[in-house]
Amino acid sequence: MAKPQTREWRSTLTVWSPADLDAADRGLLREAHEAASKAYAPYSLFQVGGAVRLEDGTVVRGSNQENMAYPSGMCGERVAVFAAGAQHPGAVMRAVAIVSPSPKAIADAFMPCGGCRQVLVEAERRQGQPMRVILQVRDEAVMISESAVNLMPFAFEALGLGGQES
Ligand code: THU
Repeated sequence: MAKPQTREWRSTLTVWSPADLDAADRGLLREAHEAASKAYAPYSLFQVGGAVRLEDGTVVRGSNQENMAYPSGMCGERVAVFAAGAQHPGAVMRAVAIVSPSPKAIADAFMPCGGCRQVLVEAERRQGQPMRVILQVRDEAVMISESAVNLMPFAFEALGLGGQES
């Protein structure tokens, strides 16, 4: 029987002690923790903060905003990325820090959800430059992905889904 072809994807994260990060990344993490303190997460008690650093150094924050109609809520990083797009259209997003202070969070398994990865990948594709993703739970070890697509192998993309891209 013929062997199927394979498509492989290597995804690499670096793991950092917070003290070894440069000042810019440490600062962005601080902003994300600030954002997390403004989460509205009374249902899950799982607060998430996001902070996007734009090319000119501007930082845009977001946090998860839940709703009693559960699916109406929104993840913290998506709030931050959408706010950055809404307030600074066309600005390159160099990095996004995503954090959770929650005691429920597991450091090695703290990752943007699939929907957020899709959103990060599209923002990255639109700007034509990588967006670094910096992840931290509480004050623990930090994981860094040098691009969004590195977190989403085989991401959905399509041609001709309607309208012109802006
Ligand atoms: N959440 C985020 O904010 N980002 C993610 O990537 C995963 C989950 C939020 C959604 C919900 O408010 C809470 O965490 C528990 O799922």
